[in-house]
Amino acid sequence: MKIVTSAVELQAARRAFDADTGFVPTMGGLHRGHEALMAHARSRHRHLIASVYVNPLQFGPHEDFAAYPRTPRTDEAVLEAAGVDLAFFPTQEAIYPAGPARQTEVRVPGLSDDLCGAYRPGHFYGVTTVVARLFGLVQPAAAYFGKKDYQQWRLIERMVRDLAWPIAVVGVDTVREADGLALSTRNRYLDPEERARAPLLAQLLRTASVAIQAGDAIAAVERTVFRQLQDNGFVPDYVSVRRQHDLAPPGDDDEALVILAAARLGTARLIDNREFRR
Ligand code: PAF
Repeated sequence: MKIVTSAVELQAARRAFDADTGFVPTMGGLHRGHEALMAHARSRHRHLIASVYVNPLQFGPHEDFAAYPRTPRTDEAVLEAAGVDLAFFPTQEAIYPAGPARQTEVRVPGLSDDLCGAYRPGHFYGVTTVVARLFGLVQPAAAYFGKKDYQQWRLIERMVRDLAWPIAVVGVDTVREADGLALSTRNRYLDPEERARAPLLAQLLRTASVAIQAGDAIAAVERTVFRQLQDNGFVPDYVSVRRQHDLAPPGDDDEALVILAAARLGTARLIDNREFRR
């Protein structure tokens, strides 16, 4: 595995690969969820590039940018074991040559300010801006994103479609602990007592999806899950049922749905979702 840190080195190494190049962008703190993305990409492409960059633009002023886990040595070993050909650990200058504040911004209107975007203002502008820059440097045929970050995945799909870039944006199923908790780099913020309670989020979403399939009204189910989270010490931001493909509120005829939720538990902000059909 070759490791590069500058845009020039990345582009030079990329030129040695053909068009059949897959890409997995990450912020490091790699876990089995990331390994699943690499495995998907590895089995589908001749060449595989992964990046590790904690993007300042997607953190709000009071969020965990400084505390976000940075584990480059372990990440390097994970990428090597996953069969990555080229690992990009960019410097800030490689991503934002004139500094983050002067970078050309890419914004997907509407959906960026909904759901998590309503509680993390500007977060998704930072995500689409960094992913656009990474796509420009890496020029992948396909890029792989975890469905745990469902809104992020759909926003990047939208960005690529709107800008007519020839990149397949692939969502990969969430990897879970044995008790159902979705894997996340931020799970390490949970203390043992919170960790024991955290799987309730996934359990409530599963129960809710079954209730809607059985004919319960969506708004009532959303309210019930919200209250159950509160009753169990979570501080929920939202619980919302949406259409899978564009995350718009569902009409009566929409069948492919997803229930999404975000809730704080101690210092960790957990997000999860469950796709279902009715
Ligand atoms: O999902 C992540 O790890 C990040 O949001 C991403 C897509 C790498 C952009 O910084």
